[in-house]
Amino acid sequence: MPGHMLGRGACPELKDLMGEKALQADITQVLDMDDIHRPQSFTKAAQELAAECFGAEQTWFLINGSTCGNQAMLMASLQPGEEVILPRCAHRSLQAGLIFSGAVPRYAASPYDRDGGVNLAVEAEELERLQKLHPRVKVWAVTAATPYGACADMKKICDRAHSCGAAVLADEAWGPHFGACEGLPLSAMAQGADCAVQSAHKLLGALSQASLLHYQGGRVDRGRLHLALRMLQSTSPSYLLLASLDLARRQLALEGQELWSKALERAMDLRAFVSGLPGFRVMEKGRAYDYDLTRVVISALDLGIDGVQLERILRYRFKVQPEMSDMRNVVLVVTPSQTEEDLRRLKAALQEISASPYDWIAKEGVKMPLKLVEELGFPGFPEMVLSPREAFFTQTLSVPWKEAIGKVCGELITPYPPGIPLICPGERIEAGHFAYLQELNRVGIPIDGLQDRNFEKVKILKV
Ligand SMILES: Cc1ncc(COP(=O)(O)O)c(C=O)c1O
Repeated sequence: MPGHMLGRGACPELKDLMGEKALQADITQVLDMDDIHRPQSFTKAAQELAAECFGAEQTWFLINGSTCGNQAMLMASLQPGEEVILPRCAHRSLQAGLIFSGAVPRYAASPYDRDGGVNLAVEAEELERLQKLHPRVKVWAVTAATPYGACADMKKICDRAHSCGAAVLADEAWGPHFGACEGLPLSAMAQGADCAVQSAHKLLGALSQASLLHYQGGRVDRGRLHLALRMLQSTSPSYLLLASLDLARRQLALEGQELWSKALERAMDLRAFVSGLPGFRVMEKGRAYDYDLTRVVISALDLGIDGVQLERILRYRFKVQPEMSDMRNVVLVVTPSQTEEDLRRLKAALQEISASPYDWIAKEGVKMPLKLVEELGFPGFPEMVLSPREAFFTQTLSVPWKEAIGKVCGELITPYPPGIPLICPGERIEAGHFAYLQELNRVGIPIDGLQDRNFEKVKILKV
């Protein structure tokens, strides 16, 4: 294994794409190659160095992204029927973790930032409120940093959770660089989290899918965590991914402070530039507890250009690929990998867009739909009838919306914005939720998760 035998049998296109060296390094599961599931030699040493670098008692290398780390954390710390507090807008890997573990979610609301039009990280007070309502909860699974750069007060959250006897699992997919230099947020581990996942591939130099899972403190069963990872990860891990994690760790340990200080400086320069551009806004820290300033979230709505359009203009006209966009914002991410020239090109592009906005407007503006989303507010969370796991294993039936009112939903329905699941599988569909979705659909807000794109039918559970 693999069948290409060090690249000798690989087709020419693959050889061309990967290069000989990469194919020669693509070996796994032979004598003298260590095993991530039972590390004894160099993988063990590399993981120990990572634990030291990231301030953990133990670190595991992940080859299936933070996705499998989130799932493993829930599986390790919860039994079927046990309760867990997590933000309603948690990443979908945690929804899968709920299905795998059989845990019952108690959803926390996140504060909405009107200026930026995004949800911030969840607050300790909301988590504590839920803990009082559901005193048997023993785990808080918290998104430490949102994709827009807003960070939770993890110290306060960890202190409060621990005083209630609950463990804190941090989804810090967007924060593998946290703590690398002054001016960046502190990592969740440094603030007392029991476990944390970080996507080294998102912001450090690791290859796609390569992530980290950190552990400390003894509140989570370390053996079960390891067991869950054995179940969720491949038995043929890619050494290219593992080596990239080790090298990304080394780069961070040896040069991280310098590299990230420079990146932060460039990000600050970019922020100042964009906020001085007519028609552009840059998201500031605002009400967030802390903010990752290397994420430069910009909006050109005042020019009549929505976020999705702006991303397209930057990509297709100016050959600059942003990280992501929504109806309002474009998220730009500054890392040590960009050069001065990259940022100069980006600035020139933004300047050109600002100077001649009418060249770019391809469709009706989205200010009206966005205003509507704000005016409507977000309806309360629906009644949960079945747990995510019970819902997953129940048969579904597609029915017209009007017949679905009062029934139990079989789909995860999330309008963007606000990007928060409105109805999850296993929750009751109420008339108010249908009316809300109808309004959003009428003004063209995308509704994710609905199999019927015409908004005529919805899947309900046969209960
Ligand atoms: C908050 C959050 N958590 C987890 C993940 C999953 O991370 P990965 O892509 O490393 O599996 C993402 C992916 O974007 C994310 O945004």
